[in-house]
Amino acid sequence: ATEAKPYDVVVLGGGPGGYVAAIKAAQLGLKTACVEKRGSLGGTCLNVGCIPSKAMLNNSHLYHQATHDFKNRGINVENVSIDLKKMLGAKEGSVTALTKGIEGLFKKNKVDYIKGHGAFAEPGALTVKLNDGGETRVEGKNIIIATGSEVTPFPGIEIDEKQIVSSTGALELESVPKKMIVIGGGVIGLEMGSVWSRLGAEVTVVEFLNAVGGAGMDPEVSKKFQSILGKQGLKFKLGTKVIDAEKKDGKVLLNVEGAKDGKKEALDADVVLVAIGRRPVTEGLNLEAVGIEKDNRGRIVVDDQYNTTCKGVKCIGDATFGPMLAHKAEEEGIAAVEIIATGHGHVNYNAIPAVVYTHPEVAWVGKNEQELKDEGVEYKIGNFPFLANSRAKTNADSEGFVKFLTEKTTDKILGVHIIGPNAGEMIASGVLAMEYSASAEDIARTCAAHPTLQEAFKEAAMQATFGKAIHF
Ligand code: FAD
Ligand code: NAI
Repeated sequence: ATEAKPYDVVVLGGGPGGYVAAIKAAQLGLKTACVEKRGSLGGTCLNVGCIPSKAMLNNSHLYHQATHDFKNRGINVENVSIDLKKMLGAKEGSVTALTKGIEGLFKKNKVDYIKGHGAFAEPGALTVKLNDGGETRVEGKNIIIATGSEVTPFPGIEIDEKQIVSSTGALELESVPKKMIVIGGGVIGLEMGSVWSRLGAEVTVVEFLNAVGGAGMDPEVSKKFQSILGKQGLKFKLGTKVIDAEKKDGKVLLNVEGAKDGKKEALDADVVLVAIGRRPVTEGLNLEAVGIEKDNRGRIVVDDQYNTTCKGVKCIGDATFGPMLAHKAEEEGIAAVEIIATGHGHVNYNAIPAVVYTHPEVAWVGKNEQELKDEGVEYKIGNFPFLANSRAKTNADSEGFVKFLTEKTTDKILGVHIIGPNAGEMIASGVLAMEYSASAEDIARTCAAHPTLQEAFKEAAMQATFGKAIHF
């Protein structure tokens, strides 16, 4: 069978990149279809990524507060316990509501949702193996690849999603492990490590590098972050590489060694989380047949208009270059279809925020201090601690700081780095400032309501531009 043809735009993959591209294309008057094999829309992010992890982060934080913090606030609660099944159920509930919501948006915007696995038949046409059986041919004047990413496997360590898990298994453990080892101290390792640590697991993070947080995090923030997480109970083995892992008597035994000194050590755990990064999904798409090239890291090669090496085919999101973030994929989805519809579309890669949803949160936009040093840029720093912010102090939640990095000669904001309560919401101001090429003085002269955490943002800008904040 052949779908009513040809579409103006066919999007392959229904994650944040793909579904947003499809909706925007339809809104721009293009006849659009989206092919998704998962059986549910929203991709990694809504099904096994951003959304379920945030549900677990939020609820494990509340539990941790109830057991560790309420007493200090004059709230006595007794017999606090975890109903893990219910907590997982709440997580599933939010996933279902949001993924179904996107199906609703497809209907509202008249995007055809084709459930099945798509692969290139030829340039301009996909063969889709339908989830319900059978095959169909879908033609598109434009095809957008948005097939996303999957966990990078650790050579020799097989993921069974029960004892040796990826983030997907770590989001549905049936009981709280006594001991958990996390391989990789990046975003997934620290978010999921925090969840299970708060719920009672003894968590050790084994990280190859000498710092936590993964790429992009400011070194000063990373240090502070590690120290705060350490106080919360997470243990770290930095500069350490995992050699192998073996399942024995219900445990996982790991051999690790010092990355520099080669010192060997044996570790054991009930559950091991492998979180050493993600890689693009490009297998099974028959890319070779249409001449679509990948780079040496398996990413689909695109030009600055998201064109692949096959005419009429674009690629966005985790499957191509750039940070593997849902909002980056979404922005690219919109830009790609705007280019198709109008010839113009743009993403400002200097102003894409990154957020780690631990407690406190870590968030940043723009360059970090190490990057500025490496590039030989002369910069100024404005650093304001939450300890000196009245709202943070009143909330007894005052660890962390806001750090502005500005160009020395012009005062232009080059980066904002925050570790502290609500950093993920606050960074939006930094993004907006950078989008409008603001100077630190612009922020320093903008009124912030009192008492709010946002005052720390303003005062860090004051520190950067005037050399002095008021309250510190
Ligand atoms: P994906 O979301 O991976 O979607 C691709 C879709 O394409 C999938 O549904 C897949 O089934 C489908 N597909 C693939 N091949 C085919 C085919 N041949 N035919 C049909 N369909 C196909 N990012 C954030 O910004 N914030 C967060 O808080 C965050 N948390 C995360 C937590 C975890 C645990 C993980 C794993 C990731 C997290 N991410 C987060 C990253 C985020 O999920 C990704 O950056 C985002 O999902 C990428 O979107 P995408 O559309 O490019 O790809
Ligand atoms: P990551 O790239 O953030 O971190 C991986 C870490 O593993 C790095 O610190 C790396 O040095 C380390 N590592 C690599 N090989 C190793 C080895 N052999 N032994 C020990 N350590 C090793 O990748 P992660 O955490 O898997 O997440 C994947 C991606 O998913 C992120 O890069 C991010 O783009 C996205 N994500 C985003 C979230 C958010 O925005 N809040 C949350 C979760 C994931």
